Amino acid sequence: HFLRHVESMKLLPSGAGHISHLNAVILGESLATEENDFVLPSNDFADQANVKSPQQYMEMYKRSIEDPAGFWSDIASEFYWKQKWGDKVCDENFDVRKGKIKIEWFKGGITNIAYNCLDRNIEAGLGDKIAIYWEGNEPGLDGSLTYTQLHDRVCQVANYLKDIGVKKGDAVIIYLPMLMELPITMLACARIGAVHSVVFAGFSSESLSQRIIDCKPKVVITCNAVKRGSKIIYLKDIVDAAINDSAQSGVSIDVSLVYENPVALKRVDTKWKEGRDIWWQDVIPQYPTTCPVEWVDAEDPLFLLYTSGSTGKPKGVLHTTGGYMVYTATTFKYAFDYKPSDVYWCTADCGWITGHSYVTYGPMLNGATVLVYEGAPNYPDAGRCWDIVDKYKVSIFYTAPTLVRSLMRDGDEYVTRYSRKSLRVLGSVGEPINPSAWRWFYNIVGDSRCPISDTWWQTETGGFMITPLPGAWPQKPGSATFPFFGVQPVIVDEKGVEIEGECSGYLCVKSSWPGAFRTLYGDHERYETTYFKPFAGYYFSGDGCSRDKDGYHWLTGRVDDVINVSGHRIGTAEVESALVSHPKCAEAAVVGVEHEVKGQGIYAFITLVDGVPYSEELRKELVLTVRKQIGAFAAPDKIHWAPGLPKTRSGKIMRRILRKIASRQLDELGDISTLADPSVVNQLIELADA
Ligand code: WT7
Repeated sequence: HFLRHVESMKLLPSGAGHISHLNAVILGESLATEENDFVLPSNDFADQANVKSPQQYMEMYKRSIEDPAGFWSDIASEFYWKQKWGDKVCDENFDVRKGKIKIEWFKGGITNIAYNCLDRNIEAGLGDKIAIYWEGNEPGLDGSLTYTQLHDRVCQVANYLKDIGVKKGDAVIIYLPMLMELPITMLACARIGAVHSVVFAGFSSESLSQRIIDCKPKVVITCNAVKRGSKIIYLKDIVDAAINDSAQSGVSIDVSLVYENPVALKRVDTKWKEGRDIWWQDVIPQYPTTCPVEWVDAEDPLFLLYTSGSTGKPKGVLHTTGGYMVYTATTFKYAFDYKPSDVYWCTADCGWITGHSYVTYGPMLNGATVLVYEGAPNYPDAGRCWDIVDKYKVSIFYTAPTLVRSLMRDGDEYVTRYSRKSLRVLGSVGEPINPSAWRWFYNIVGDSRCPISDTWWQTETGGFMITPLPGAWPQKPGSATFPFFGVQPVIVDEKGVEIEGECSGYLCVKSSWPGAFRTLYGDHERYETTYFKPFAGYYFSGDGCSRDKDGYHWLTGRVDDVINVSGHRIGTAEVESALVSHPKCAEAAVVGVEHEVKGQGIYAFITLVDGVPYSEELRKELVLTVRKQIGAFAAPDKIHWAPGLPKTRSGKIMRRILRKIASRQLDELGDISTLADPSVVNQLIELADA
């Protein structure tokens, strides 16, 4: 069986230069002869897979690179287009030296993504198929919607939005937990051509108001409260505060649509502002269950999603319709080896890109049955995920390494207590998955049966970029393996020169793919500066990457000032600016530090205003300040008192030194002679555990 793979690899023709590293693994003897840590899909799995062998992958990949227009237009033709795109499938300028960066796919094509998710599937006979299984936080509370029912609910919301004056191109902010109403609202916006901006319901009122001020939505959609685990979160209070803040900056919100969630908070106990606040349940059911589709251009915006960068202000990543539709559908189908009989569960929240592309759009474009889970993955205990897997016969389970590590710590018994025999494909996303977590996921959760798709991608990329195809590739635990169709990843050195073969460096992409983001909302210049100027001619991901002798890709983490906490992206500058807003904080420097469960933890060096003494109380206040300004997930794990920070003579903080102190690698501090005051280093070391 192993040999079958190797044999099929040898059959491949030697490829064009840009894919030669792939041929290296395919043609190389290393696979068969060396003691490599390979995990192969079973024969049974490979036989039934959408892509069955490296050879089949290679044929498809070659075509996708050599003839992207043909490759992608064949796939795009499987969707409904009111009008076909013009003569150019892709029109791009990827090189800042040649002018403005521009990416267009299927321009002139007229379509609607919600129509393709719903009406097209219903017409194809999937009307009675379950679109969404919903599992509540409390065991025993659940629901479901067929594709027809989902269509009807989406249309009601779409009609309501139109009625209150939301038009094509208008922004709508959605601040909802994982209720069915979240994907319903996203699809309703898409149906009428409105641009949704989902804000993760763990963000604070200040973060929410920042986003409201930036995109000026016609309406904010929320719910009164939600129960997560054993805690109640009063979402509407957060929204009310955000709306008040925004009004002070001149952005007023006339309508706040509030879903009543009586499990968490009764209507009578909800604070209310007459004239602005509207109960969802009072209006939505009155609207018709059909709603004409707003046909849009492939390049019309679909959504905005704010993400952190290395400076303070969050970036509004803008995705458009046609390319994103084709890309999320295709990546979903191949990376998870999707079959119509699958029940698919992605544990991500729709507040992040994973929930956009792989809870809502990608799966629904394929007519898949999607499980939406409202609660915490370890509530009431660490077995909840597998309880849910058995209850719904989940066959594809997609999650983040942080959850894998935390469940791994809780012990195998919570897993083995459940059958899990419905599972056939596992997935991982958000950060590199360490080989030991990979093995536990593979051996214990998947009973050594289920391939793991470790999908590397970003908010900006819209969909998977480097990912295993589970039936095709021998896997290496911890490696995201090879590029998806149409993606040309390259590794460059500091000068932006591509490096071949076994190497490590900065991960870039050479040309556009359909799911790429088109701009940062209102700031095309920042788009170019952040992503296209660091290495001219390429899209720069912000990640480090190495490629091994077999051509496998190993992501090594961010190389910019972004910290990845439990798969959530947090800019150091954002946390610093929250910290220094505290009146007793003179200066703050934040770095990421290895964390057993979260991947990275947030480590903050704090210089207090002259004369203010260190205290436990102040430490708590500082942490609280960050929770309030950004959200609980951004709370620092450690506050390290710093009489001074290591700065160069020109005043630049040397984070390299802070990272070493934070991780207690004190013998690796390197050259500190360029510091304006080298003695601060010893002061910091002395206070390390104070
Ligand atoms: C950053 C993007 C893409 C959805 C979730 C996060 C890291 C993501 C992987 C992976 C190694 C990964 C990268 C990337 N990342 N997936 N499979 N292996 N690193 O989206 O918030 O846009 O963050 O997450 O560092 O740049 P995001």
